[in-house]
Order: sequence, then structure tokens, then C-alpha cells
Amino acid sequence: MSKTIIVSNRLPVSLQHKNGKFEFKPSAGGLATGLGSIYKEGENIWIGWPGNDVADENQRMEIVEELRKLKMAPVFLTKSDVELYYEGFSNETIWPAFHYFTQYINYENDYWEAYCRVNQKFCDAILESANDDDTIWVHDYQLLLLPMMLRNKLPKATIAFFQHIPFPSYEIIRMLPWRKEMLEGMVGSDLIGFHTYDDMRHFLSAVGRILGHSNESGFIQADNRLINVDAFPMGIDYDKFASAAASKKTLNHVKKFKEMLGDQKLLITIDRLDYSKGIPQRVKAFDQLLEDHPEYHGKVSMIMVVVPSRDRVKSYQALKEEIDTLVGSINSKFSTLNWVPVHYFYRSFPFNELSAFYTMSDIALVTPLRDGMNLVCKEFVASKSQKQGVLILSEMAGASKELVDAILVNPNDQEGVKNAIVEALSMDEEEQELRISSMQSSLKKYDIFQWVKVFMDRLKHVKERQTDLESK
Ligand code: G6P
Repeated sequence: MSKTIIVSNRLPVSLQHKNGKFEFKPSAGGLATGLGSIYKEGENIWIGWPGNDVADENQRMEIVEELRKLKMAPVFLTKSDVELYYEGFSNETIWPAFHYFTQYINYENDYWEAYCRVNQKFCDAILESANDDDTIWVHDYQLLLLPMMLRNKLPKATIAFFQHIPFPSYEIIRMLPWRKEMLEGMVGSDLIGFHTYDDMRHFLSAVGRILGHSNESGFIQADNRLINVDAFPMGIDYDKFASAAASKKTLNHVKKFKEMLGDQKLLITIDRLDYSKGIPQRVKAFDQLLEDHPEYHGKVSMIMVVVPSRDRVKSYQALKEEIDTLVGSINSKFSTLNWVPVHYFYRSFPFNELSAFYTMSDIALVTPLRDGMNLVCKEFVASKSQKQGVLILSEMAGASKELVDAILVNPNDQEGVKNAIVEALSMDEEEQELRISSMQSSLKKYDIFQWVKVFMDRLKHVKERQTDLESK
């Protein structure tokens, strides 16, 4: 019987060492939830890195057994794989390039070689269980070479690729010495998905100019194969956020937090630590607001959650220091004995506490300098069961194409972001309700489960077209 294999760099659980033993912590991410309906069925499986270093062979075998029960299979990475493939090529070469941070790109041939080697490692792990009639869905920029590696071994398999980060303009892609190999890797797929139309357009242009494959309405014909490229904006598990917001557990947290904070307007910001998120720019805009509007002192504060990420990469370490300094500066400038402008947390929070932050905040400030989609803004909107609240959203986030009822801002425009906060603070309840309701109805319709369904239906359709072509 044919099966579906999901592949991503990280598994939807992460391996934690505890008192000489190990345990698996499930990921709370939307993708894990959405794809749960697939990999938990029948013979299907999810293959990826369990996220920690395991050198001991006996322990590896134990982990394989435990993961098998969860319908997962591990790809173990060595310390050097993590350093050169994950931190190196994935996060010091592709990540900055694809987010237009060309000053951070590291052009290291050792990184590239490790990237090829580890993509091959994933391919070998998949080939242990994959057949020609299986469907393999590969996720994200860490595995760009994998679709073609799989195609060469399983020419008839159904292979899909989805990129969760932006795809930049040809002018950026051409800077990378390995651009041709990266694109060739991706076109091993039958279907390639991006979050936005612009990402798709940039990809098609790069494929045309670098590989010489033209396209007709998103269909590329290469080596007698049909490859479809399209935009599939990813949604969230809407009901999970909407029902959590109304749950007893969340509301108890809201009550407790509000008692601590007293009567004031709250702005919420939540990100992984990343230079693409525009965190320093946002703190500066808030600083500007307090400089220009002393009437808000004591009446408005910002809850800023920064989730630790990639902390061995230099640019991330430097960013952490920059944020620490900026928050220290704004708090030392404006704090009083009973008011702190920025409540800054460098850690992650349990789901119901996050839900409480979304529920009790008046404004969400989501201002990335560049973001493939951004789900925080969608989670905030879904959490607004009282239909009150204002979303300030960067036009550089993929989500801005859908959430047009947010106040859209250019995150580099400090004055503009500051003015957006003033506008949000004074928006009347009727307008808040109109905007939130309109965004909620589209997020509800196009949730993560619908996203998976639409993508899988399209994949089936492309494969049928391909079979028809072959039989002619
Ligand atoms: C982004 C990427 C994912 C990645 C996640 C966390 O959302 O698109 O592929 O897994 O960040 O980053 P990390 O480096 O911790 O896996």
C-alpha cells in the first residue's frame, strides 16, 4: 500500500536529556498540528532531526524504537553536521540571503559541502522505507536539494516541496555560488509551494534565468516532467486559539496578570530571537512614542516575549545584546516605582499563558523586516473572542497580503510605527470590531487543516496531469 512521508529538518517533537535519560517534548507549532492528520494515519511517517546530539549507538536504537511508536523516524546529526549544515549553510547562508540580509551571508564552501552531505543523509533515511508509489512532502530551506535526490532514486514517486520562508528576487539568488544546484534540487518536485504570490514569482523568474526553464501559468515542463508552482498561504489552528481564549485556564491567567499590571493599555509582541523580526526597530518606535507622548506614561506598556533561537550563531548573539541594551535604556529612562514600559521575557511560555497574553492585550505589534508568513498576528486575531483589539502589521510579512484590515506599516519607518500605535490606542470599539471580525472570518475559513487539504488535492491533480501526459 502506498504511504505519505513528511520530511522536515526538525521532527514535531524535540529530544530532551533529563537525569541521564531522554524524553520527547511535543512541538506546539501549527505545522505539527496540521500535518498530524496525515502522518498519524496508516503506514505514514514523519522523518527528521530529533534536535539533540546523540552519539551513543545503544541510545540511538532506543530513540528509534520510541519514535517508531509516535510514527516518526530520526535522522541523527553529528556535532559537525549541526555546526556546518544547520547553523552554517541553513542559517548563516540561506536564511540571511532569503530574508535580504546580505550583510550576514557567510559564503563557506565547507558549509555547502555539509549541506549536500546532510541532504543526502535525509535522502538515505527516507529510502529505507520509501517506494515509487509513495508521496513525499519535504518542508523548508534546510532541504532544498532533497527533492531531486529522491527523484533520481524514485522517478515515479509523488514529491512535493513547501518553503516556509520568503523566496527572494533573482538579484539575491544570483549572489550565491551554489544557486544552480539549489534550484535543480527544488525542481525534483511535482509541486512547489510558497506562502505568497511574490515568492512564487521570484522563484519562477530565478528558474527561468538560471535553469532556462520557462513556465506557463505556474507549470514548468523540464526533462519530460511537469512541475507546478503556486502560492498556498498557511493558516493556523483557528479553533484551538479561539477556544483557548474563552477557556477557564486562560481566563484565570488573564485575571492574575491584570491584577499585577493594573489598569493600563497593553501591547503584545512575540517572536523568536531573529534579526528578520525587526525587534530593535520596534523598541525604538515605542521609545519614540513615550518621548513624544508623555500622556501615555504609566498608562501603556509593552509585553515583549523573545523566544531563544539559534543562539550559537554570531548574528543572533549580537542581536540579543542589542535588544538587552535597548530595553535597559527605555526602562531606565521612563520607569517609575509602579510602572515599567517594557516587560521583557527572553524565554518561551506555556500555551495558556501565551493565550492569556493575546487575550488581554489591546494591541499586537507584529513588525518583521521580512517574514515568509508570520503566524503570531493570526494567533492574536483568533484569540479576540470579544472582537476588541488592534493588529499593527508589517507590510513585509506574508500575512499582510491576507490581513488587510490590520493597520499596515513599514517596519523601517519609526515615525509611521509610532503613529500606528497612537491610531490603535485611540481606535473606537466599533471599528475594532469591524476589522477583527473581518480578519477572523477569513482566518477561520482558511485554517491549517484547509491549507493541508488544498495542497494535497493540488498535488494529486498535478500527478494525474503528469500521468495523462505520459500516456499520450
Ligand atoms: C522558521 C523556519 C522553520 C524553523 C523555525 C525554527 O519558522 O521556517 O523551518 O524550524 O523557524 O527555527 P529552528 O532553527 O529552531 O528550527
